This record gives sequence, structure tokens and C-alpha cells, in this order.
Amino acid sequence: MNIAGVIQGERKPVTLHRLRRMLAEGEKIAMLTAYDASFARLADQAGVDCLLVGDSLGMVVQGRTSTVPVTLREVAYHLRCVAAGNRHAWLLGDLPLGTYEASPDQALRSSAVLLQAGAQMVKLEGGWAVETVRFLVERGVPVCAHLGLTPQSANALGGYRVQGRDEASAQVLERQARELAVAGAATLVLELVPAALALRVQQQNPALVVIGIGAGVGVAGQVLVLHDMLGVTQGKLPRFVRNFMAEGGGIEDAVRRYVAAVKNGRFPDEPVHGY
Ligand code: KIV
Repeated sequence: MNIAGVIQGERKPVTLHRLRRMLAEGEKIAMLTAYDASFARLADQAGVDCLLVGDSLGMVVQGRTSTVPVTLREVAYHLRCVAAGNRHAWLLGDLPLGTYEASPDQALRSSAVLLQAGAQMVKLEGGWAVETVRFLVERGVPVCAHLGLTPQSANALGGYRVQGRDEASAQVLERQARELAVAGAATLVLELVPAALALRVQQQNPALVVIGIGAGVGVAGQVLVLHDMLGVTQGKLPRFVRNFMAEGGGIEDAVRRYVAAVKNGRFPDEPVHGY
């Protein structure tokens, strides 16, 4: 496995520049969520390129039924924990519901809290956010956009359903991705969309680092929620999840196998994990 950032045995911290180079050179990007220092250290040691302190913490850490109740202070707290354990991975923090939608100014103030807690990039949901993305990027805040199934607005979307299945909604998503990329979003999480649509978005935006979750294998990289891929999450899981712990070995081994499967293009396996 050729990992661009390993030079003479020494791993360099991942940068935005390096993520773009990985996309250009066809090296797949492996991202996982993390919420504490111990798992961040372990995932980093196992070669994960990016760590996301997602508002999924509401569900997998706090035991809530959605991401909606998560606050900015809570994300900042978990970011500080993760930053303390991480050495190399590019670190993203989620802007929670209600902390960025009112105005670009509100988004900048909230982003500052996350950057001060250790984030290198903020993630925000929605295709409406083009002007906010431009405002943040112009002020030096790297932004990851998030389209498809956006959990903060799951109620408005009719629940946790595949997005962009019909031609009209696919076209809207494609347009939003283009506008967000032009506004300066460097990365885009695409959640729960048909693989063919995700591939088109990646092809139409060759410099945009598209990270899929339930979006097929034709994008720059993959992300999973840590608790899902370790088999910790109880109940019915989405089809896009693969339990790497069930394949034997310990936790670090499971994360290493996830990284290898993403880099080799063996995860996701479209007939099993795709839409
Ligand atoms: O909150 C989160 O963990 C996320 C990922 C699932 C992409 O947004």
C-alpha cells in the first residue's frame, strides 16, 4: 500500500494540501469519527487520514435518538479530547444544529469555538449554505460541506432515507455540490445517495474531496461512525455499515483493516453496501 504521507518511515501530519494530492493521485482517503483521546490515538496509529468529531456523538456517546440535541460546547469538549490523542490525522469538527444557520457571522463565531478547541476544518450541513461557506473560506476557515442525507434535517427529509434517487432531486444535489465547491468548500461529505450520483458529483468537481458514507466507491474517500464499524452500535444499522470487528483481531486491527479496505477500493462493496 502506497501512502503518500509516509516518507522514509516517518508519517507526516495530514494537511488539506495532502488530501487534495491524494485525490489527484487516486489514493483513497479513510476517515472515521472519534470522540475521545484514546480512540483518536488508536485510529491515528492505525493510519486513518481524517478524524471527524461528528454530532453523531449525540447518538453514540450520549444515547440520544438523533444529532439534534448536541451543543457547540459538547462538540468543542470532544474536539479537545480528540485533539489530545491525535498526532497526524486531519481533524474536522461538526457545527451542530442552530449554531450556523442564522447568518454567516453566527457561523464564523461558532467555527472559531471549534477551531480553538482543535478542529482544522468545520463541517456544516445543507445545500443552502453557499454564502456561509464563501464567508468562512474568505476568512481562512476550511469548510467541509455535507449533502444527501443531512441528519440535522432528517425530520424535514422524511427520516433516514436515501436522497437523490429521482432525476429532479439528483440534479438539485449536483447543482448544490457545484455551488459549494465554487464557494470554496474543500471537502464534501455525501451521505446515503446512489453510487452513480456520487460518482457524477466527484467527476463534475475534480478538485473537491468527496467523502462518501453510503455513497459508493467512486468518490475520494469514505467515512464511518467508529461505533458502527466496531460493532458497538446496537439495533438495526444502515446497509452501508461494515462491522470490521466481526472479522477478528482487536480494535486497532479492525481500524487497520478498514483503512486498507478503503485504500484498496474493497470497501464499500457496492452490491452489499450500496444504493
Ligand atoms: O456526525 C457525524 O458523525 C457525521 C458523519 C456520519 C459523516 O456527520
